[in-house]
Amino acid sequence: MIRIRDLKKHFRLRHNPLARLRGHHDHIIKAVDGVSFELKEGEVLGLVGESGCGKTTLAKTVLRLHWPTDGNVLYRGRDIFSMERHEVKALRRDMQVVFQDSNSTLDPRMNAERLLEEPLLLHRIGDRRDRQRAVASMLDKVKLSPAFLTRHAAELSGGQRQRLSIARALIIEPRLLIADEPLAGLDPVVSTQLLNLMLSLKKEMGLTYLLISHDLQTVSYASDRVMVMYKGRVVETIGGDRFESGSVHPYTRFLMNTGPTASGTSNGDVHRHVPPPETSCAFQGKCPHATALCRKASPVLREVAPGHMVACHLV
Ligand SMILES: Nc1ncnc2c1ncn2[C@@H]1O[C@H](COP(=O)(O)OP(=O)(O)OP(=O)(O)O)[C@@H](O)[C@H]1O
Ligand SMILES: [Mg+2]
Repeated sequence: MIRIRDLKKHFRLRHNPLARLRGHHDHIIKAVDGVSFELKEGEVLGLVGESGCGKTTLAKTVLRLHWPTDGNVLYRGRDIFSMERHEVKALRRDMQVVFQDSNSTLDPRMNAERLLEEPLLLHRIGDRRDRQRAVASMLDKVKLSPAFLTRHAAELSGGQRQRLSIARALIIEPRLLIADEPLAGLDPVVSTQLLNLMLSLKKEMGLTYLLISHDLQTVSYASDRVMVMYKGRVVETIGGDRFESGSVHPYTRFLMNTGPTASGTSNGDVHRHVPPPETSCAFQGKCPHATALCRKASPVLREVAPGHMVACHLV
């Protein structure tokens, strides 16, 4: 369904003129730095990695909300960055996104009914009666009672707000849902319910998911494949069921040992984003197994077993 080839998204942080006069160069943040992967129809692909590794930037580039620095994204065989206007419109319908903080994405002045009707209006789908029917049916699908139609985002709990966001994303019947930390901030029971709801909706509506989360357990439970990112690159991709026992990249193992909270907290080193020299492994500075080769050459992602890709000199 989607094929991503050597995708790069670099941000240039400009210094103020005075700093420039003093000879400071603009700082380049390589948020996504040469990522390639495929997302198959009907698949749940999980994406993990610590804060700042480029997950959201990758998602936004795939959604065509960022223009890439290099590389391309093929959606059903078409490069999304060279699409005609009508194709972009269709793409906007096919790809939907749910972000973590639905509090800021749901207009506080609108009630649930209007929030759900809005995407249908935007995409000119159906007449008033069709839309009412679609709204009622979608609300039911996300297990919210009709009483919620008149409520506003502020009157909902975090879990209910997220259900509404999911309903808003799915009401126009997309093919792909990108969920960026959809469960963050929810308590474990609500989070599990929401994840299971998402998975059953996926089946029911024939969707494909890109699921981004800090929580490794959630991701490996829900995903057919898990992709691990470190400093803008994919370091390992492995089947969800094999993730815990079969993953081998030293960074993946590090993430597992530090647990979801540690990987979720910001890590000063990552945030400073000291760009690793192109000629070494990005993880070598922290890797307990690093050798001279790791300091000399950047490892490429290669298949070590069917469906298992690793970028590490030592594997
Ligand atoms: N619009 C932007 N301009 C400049 N830098 C940016 C921009 N967006 C992201 N970045 C930087 O790119 C890097 C990757 O950010 P990104 O938000 O993609 O990470 P993430 O993996 O989603 O992190 P988190 O888990 O905290 O959501 C970070 O260093 C971030 O500061
Ligand atoms: Mg993010």
